[in-house]
Amino acid sequence: MNKVEGVMMKSVMRTVVLLFACIGFTRQAEAQEMTTAMLSSKYNITSGQEIYSRACALCHDSGVMNAPKVCNVAEWQPRMAQGMDALVKHVVNGINSMPAKGGLESLTLAECSDAVAYMMSQCDVTVAKK
Ligand code: HEC
Repeated sequence: MNKVEGVMMKSVMRTVVLLFACIGFTRQAEAQEMTTAMLSSKYNITSGQEIYSRACALCHDSGVMNAPKVCNVAEWQPRMAQGMDALVKHVVNGINSMPAKGGLESLTLAECSDAVAYMMSQCDVTVAKK
């Protein structure tokens, strides 16, 4: 490879790296948008808010017993990475010191999902504002 070819290779490589970086960035932006749109179209956020204040706020507003506080993005990011189904399952069955259904046995699966969606939608707003 002569000098000119070498310089050309480098610039091609740089373009390729930049291209992949752009694709990665776009994907991330799409994923965030998708989450917000998905939540409000799939779940009843209004009902979720009502359930949240009745059954979940007690712990998740203040973070007692190390409950992840609503909109503490650092605390929620790794949990959100599990996906909605896993999160909802942990709410329904309980996880560690989190009681099943937040201790409100009468809650349905749909109500638990709405409450989680409400919590997540609140956090998405904070992420978007940053
Ligand atoms: C008595 C306190 C308490 C109440 C009430 C409560 N939580 Fe929790 N919650 C916790 C604690 C503590 C954790 C952290 C558990 C762990 O991962 O160790 C948690 C974790 C979670 C998680 C994350 C689960 C995961 O997979 O990481 C979600 C989602 C959640 N709670 C939703 C809810 C919802 C929805 C309600 C109301 C229906 C609720 N919580 C009521 C204490 C509570």
